[in-house]
This record gives sequence, structure tokens and C-alpha cells, in this order.
Amino acid sequence: MLRLSPLFLLAAVFAALPTGAATANSRIEFNRDIRPILSENCFPCHGADSAARKAGLRLDRFEEAIAPRKDSPPAIVPGKPEASELVRRITAADPDDIMPPAKTHKVLRAEQKELLKSWIAASARFEPHWSLIPPKRPELPKVQNQRWPRNPVDYFVLAPMRRGEQAVHHLLVGVRRAIAYEGLDLLR
Ligand code: HEC
Repeated sequence: MLRLSPLFLLAAVFAALPTGAATANSRIEFNRDIRPILSENCFPCHGADSAARKAGLRLDRFEEAIAPRKDSPPAIVPGKPEASELVRRITAADPDDIMPPAKTHKVLRAEQKELLKSWIAASARFEPHWSLIPPKRPELPKVQNQRWPRNPVDYFVLAPMRRGEQAVHHLLVGVRRAIAYEGLDLLR
């Protein structure tokens, strides 16, 4: 006899989800991906400490990082890494230009440079330091089947299922067929 528990159905639905649904989280986040790089390599000379600041350049504030400069293009031109002096400096071949300066003995890794470039290409959005962001309940995801969820957890479970709609549809068709074949009344 064919026995399908709701838990099995859920597991099957997740297994059938297109993998794209899981990568929605790979967006660059300032606090997680960018701040640590700038903090370690740039803020010592381009951060909040005005006494240590070099070239009068702050890279810890959006408004100042995008501000016009006297002798060079703005450090950051949102959406345009190729026009951003920051990108030119972190990729410079000339040891006089490279940032962080050679004397710091710090060197950005290739993937850190790529992250900075992609972040600028994608708008260079800054976030306040995480300790200043009040904790917030995420909103409940929108789900189509309003009758199904019984508690908040159900909403979070159901939302990604919708993104795999096609897969879910195929699965349900299969389950219906199995039910018709076995004469089970599982979906009640
Ligand atoms: C040890 C101090 C120090 C560190 C660390 C440092 N810089 Fe600099 N930066 C300088 C100095 C000094 C200048 C001015 C001389 C020059 O233009 O090379 C400068 C100039 C710049 C300029 C050009 C500003 C202008 O308008 O001419 C940019 C852009 C820049 N830095 C970006 C960065 C970035 C991005 C990092 C981190 C990856 C970084 N810097 C790390 C000292 C530092």
C-alpha cells in the first residue's frame, strides 16, 4: 500500500525545488561582505579618525565616498566601477598608486577586489554598523494559499515552495495520479 505522510510530501517538494531558489541569498551585503574588507585595509587611513585620515578621504560614509575630489575622480561612482578611483587604486600596477599602500604590507586578495567591484557595480549601498540597526522581525512572506499556513513558520516554509511552482505542480499531479491509482484520499 502507498503511504505518503505530509512530511514526505514536504521533503519531496524541497527536493524538487530548482536550485536557483537557494541562491537568492547570495546578494552582496555591506555589513557582511564589504565592511570587513574596508575596515581592515582602508579605514585606518580613510575612516572616522580625522587625525589619521589621509588625502582627506573618508570611505566609511556614502556621501563622502561619492563626493567630487580635487585631483581625481570620486572614490566611488555608484554603478560604475570603471569610473571609480577606488577601483583604479586597488587594481593599480604602479606601486605609487596601489591601495592599501605597499608600506602597510596589506594586500587585497583577488576575490576581495572582485567583491568591491561588484558591490560598486550594484549601487555601492552602505549600511549602518549592525550594532546600530534595531533588530527587526522579518515580515511574513506573501503566500498564495492563505488557508494553508497555521503559524508564522508555515509562511516561511510555504513561500519558497511557491518559487518552485512548476516543480510543485508536477509533484502534485504525480501525487494525484498515485492517489487515483491507489484509491487513497490523502489530500483531504
Ligand atoms: C596607510 C594609510 C592608507 C591606507 C591603509 C589606505 N590608503 Fe588610500 N591613500 C593614502 C594616502 C597617503 C593617499 C594620498 C596619496 C595618494 O594619492 O596615493 C591615499 C589616496 C587614496 C585615494 C585617492 C584619493 C584622491 O582623491 O586622490 C583613494 C581612492 C584611496 N586612497 C583608496 C583607498 C582604499 C580603497 C584603501 C583600502 C583598500 C586605502 N586607500 C587604504 C593612505 C592610505
